[in-house]
Amino acid sequence: MSLTIDFSNKTVVVIGGTSGINRGVAMLFARHGARVAVASRSSDKVEDTVNALEALGGQAMGFTADVRDFVAIEEGLAKVYEAFGLFDVLVSGAAGNFPANVNGMSVNAFRSVVEIDLVGTFNVMKASFSYLKRPGASVINISAPQAFLPMEAQSHVCSAKAGVDMITRTLALEWGREGIRINSIVPGPIDGTEGVARLAPSGAVRQRVIDSIPLGRMGSPEDIAHACLFLGSDLSGYISGVILPVDGAWSQNGCGDMSSYLGNLARQKEKN
Ligand code: NAP
Ligand code: COA
Repeated sequence: MSLTIDFSNKTVVVIGGTSGINRGVAMLFARHGARVAVASRSSDKVEDTVNALEALGGQAMGFTADVRDFVAIEEGLAKVYEAFGLFDVLVSGAAGNFPANVNGMSVNAFRSVVEIDLVGTFNVMKASFSYLKRPGASVINISAPQAFLPMEAQSHVCSAKAGVDMITRTLALEWGREGIRINSIVPGPIDGTEGVARLAPSGAVRQRVIDSIPLGRMGSPEDIAHACLFLGSDLSGYISGVILPVDGAWSQNGCGDMSSYLGNLARQKEKN
């Protein structure tokens, strides 16, 4: 096997691909020749991302949908199939997060994150199945360290992302029979993203996070995109059902003191 990563004439779909990490993933696939489709709730973000993808010289398209709306996702994916054909790679990364302890969040607050991250992942998986190339498609779910490390003020995200990883592992069994691979990527703290802005906003917290990462730096969207390129390519043709941290070994270190920091922050908010 020759070691080339070329996605020319391949279709890559990135759900939640219009900002942050997932947009970086969409852009890198486009730079490697793929036809790329993105989707999210905001038509402005979809349009801006499609323009940026097209500026790289390839074909791109997008649609607006909330992952909580199965029918909207199904209709959008059908349009992508009509225009670009069967999907070689599907990346599912739409998510929501805010720090709040169980005592400081409403039932609807918990439900909204579980519905975006977990039910949304289910919806994307189920709606895309008939459009995945069989055999050969690669599906990548974007998870988080909260899936396997309990964190204060993150009960919603911990519950949802643990579920996402179990969808990954279950579908590796069910869809493996069809020649479809599916894996999760667990990003560490990725610089310049909404996730870091919400969980580690200030200079002092930022530095504490960096100090707790064994590789000594936050990641970039490209770090995650490189892993997606690998998992999307034939180089990983025998890898399925894997939960892959791409985090500079941050999770091996228990994610530093992120848990107690977020817990204290949430308790202070509850007092005010
Ligand atoms: P982000 O910029 O907020 O990206 C989230 C994307 O999902 C956006 O395109 C957003 O666009 C879309 N989205 C959100 N809710 C949606 C919904 N209900 N339906 C459809 N699309 C929706 O966040 P990020 O920080 O880059 O995080 C991206 C992924 O990485 C997430 O899965 C997150 O859990 C994971 N992660 C991030 C970090 C980090 O350090 N940032 C660390 C670990 C894991 P619209 O607003 O237009 O809908
Ligand atoms: N603390 C406690 N509760 C909060 C909260 C916070 N910081 N932010 C939102 N909520 C609650 C709301 O009050 C609401 O509950 P209520 O109806 O009982 O008042 C519930 O969460 C839903 O909020 P709403 O704004 O209506 O939901 P939405 O579906 O429009 O947005 C979110 C979903 C809340 C997750 C929103 O932050 C979002 O869209 N995030 C996407 C971007 C993101 O989080 N990126 C980082 C990814 S790691």
